[in-house]
Amino acid sequence: MKIKIGNITVFLLDSYDMISKRAAAMVASQVTVKPKSVLGLATGSTPVGMYQELVKMYQKDEVDFSDIRTFNLDEYFPIQQDNEQSYAYYMNQNLFSHINIKKESIHIPNGATSDVGIECDVYDKAMEDAGGIDLQVLGIGNNGHIGFNEPNLHFETGTHVVELDAGTIQANARFFQSESEVPRQAISMGIRNIMNAKKIVLLANGAAKADIMEKMLYGEVSPHVPASVLQLHRDVTVLLDQEAGAKIRSHIK
Ligand code: GLP
Repeated sequence: MKIKIGNITVFLLDSYDMISKRAAAMVASQVTVKPKSVLGLATGSTPVGMYQELVKMYQKDEVDFSDIRTFNLDEYFPIQQDNEQSYAYYMNQNLFSHINIKKESIHIPNGATSDVGIECDVYDKAMEDAGGIDLQVLGIGNNGHIGFNEPNLHFETGTHVVELDAGTIQANARFFQSESEVPRQAISMGIRNIMNAKKIVLLANGAAKADIMEKMLYGEVSPHVPASVLQLHRDVTVLLDQEAGAKIRSHIK
């Protein structure tokens, strides 16, 4: 089912598999229509299925990634790229090592930088030089974070260093040996970087995301719920499975 909530187009889909396929189709169409597309990419468990679909499409010769450029939303700080929990490692495992993207076209904030201030500036400049993001893929944290823009008193604009919320550290501890190993900081694109994207697609699945999806779509726009700012963007598509869309369904019945 497709509905419109304010400016946002929401697809209430049956399953995670359907979210993954639809998101992959959106990315592939973007790349086909504009081979030199600049893609903004997300990590986390949510987009794993979408990346699998994109790899399958590439293997079937349905999409060519040779001219795209990519910018990832975020990276832990500090972290080495070969650490299996780094987002650099994740991207390589889930997508980049399986497709024909050029190495020099991949951008991920460097979590091993010795000067994080410069790293943020360089990242913003690289995005600007690339002409901005054509299609930004987003997941959402249980607290409404996008990238690592945590609930805050104000919206951060450009790429910046973030102190991770206790809840985010706890949620992400499942990927690490223990909670104490989760880095306390991250480098993240800011809200301006994300809002400057021409198109945005946000994916969410599972019951743990039901409350935050309702707040994001029906609540007031506030930096306390960072994803709510997407209500102000002109081209956002949200893909939800049954569980993540449960509260939205209750609004339309
Ligand atoms: C992580 C990432 C986000 C991601 C979110 C949700 O901490 N920084 O980019 O969207 O949390 O993760 P998941 O998809 O695993 O629920």
